[in-house]
Amino acid sequence: MEKEIKRIGILTSGGDSPGMNTAIRAVTRTAVSNGFEVYGIKKGYDGLINKEYRRLWAGDVSDILNKGGTMLHTARSQKMYTDEGVKKAAENYFEMGLCALIVIGGDGSFKGALKLSEYGVNVIGIPATIDLDISCTEYTIGFDTAVNTGTEALCKLKDTSSSHERCSVVEVMGRKNGSIALWCAIAGGADDALILEEKSEKSVENLISQIMRNKDKGRKNSLIVICEGFGNTNEIAKEIEEKTGIQTRATILGHIQRGGCPTVLDKMRASVMGYKAVLAIMDNKKNQVVSYINGKYTLIPIGMAFEKINKYDEEIYNILKTLSV
Ligand code: F6P
Repeated sequence: MEKEIKRIGILTSGGDSPGMNTAIRAVTRTAVSNGFEVYGIKKGYDGLINKEYRRLWAGDVSDILNKGGTMLHTARSQKMYTDEGVKKAAENYFEMGLCALIVIGGDGSFKGALKLSEYGVNVIGIPATIDLDISCTEYTIGFDTAVNTGTEALCKLKDTSSSHERCSVVEVMGRKNGSIALWCAIAGGADDALILEEKSEKSVENLISQIMRNKDKGRKNSLIVICEGFGNTNEIAKEIEEKTGIQTRATILGHIQRGGCPTVLDKMRASVMGYKAVLAIMDNKKNQVVSYINGKYTLIPIGMAFEKINKYDEEIYNILKTLSV
């Protein structure tokens, strides 16, 4: 009797993050070693809908370990917001003869995966986003690299703002979650961070009073981190300069934080998560996310992936406030 060949599809979706390639490599090599055929689907769900895919062999994922971005390309698929798009993606999954689809991405990508599971698709999620904002996991691939990039930039800015006795205001990514801002602020020795979660009418006023207090004590240079979406960083910098009399410069780091060679931590987490995703398929698990909780890798049903509220760590915020006195 002929042995049934099992096929796995893999895609990366949403904003890219350093370590996605590492996860693709781990999935491909674990799957190939265990007798699966692997199909790399291009440009996220759009590639599944438009039938853009190719077979991946172990050699196809050589030399991608140290590369940021994703060799499969990615997209924020608008079609997946429509019933028609989800149905087409599910139809193509069955036409390809897949037994599972590994989705490497963030919150939005998992919402798409959940919809696909309702059509009978078996989805296994690997959390990857620099934002660290997926409820079911304490780690998302790319976060560590992003905060290292952000921190390096802060350290450099600290040098020049100190030489010129200026205030440096640095905007970091993180959509609605302040984790990147807080980690960068602590590791980069910032004086304060403005994050959406703590935003009030008085946030900027309070910050300006703090800069003034520091100025009165003789300190003229300051380093402030602002989470994107908090407000207009250039305008805030202008207001600081006008009200404190200290020359202020704004730097928006933007997509720099999404690129670059993943850190060791990201490469480790991505390798283990990729490996575990394939093991889940071999164990006949259906519709799970490979999560990292309390120092362990664990599977969480994709339906439960959004249950907790995404929250930055409040203690980290308090630590920043304490350390920057
Ligand atoms: O992927 C997460 C993220 O980098 C957020 O931090 C940011 O708000 C958003 O993506 C930017 O998206 P885009 O690359 O589509 O501009």
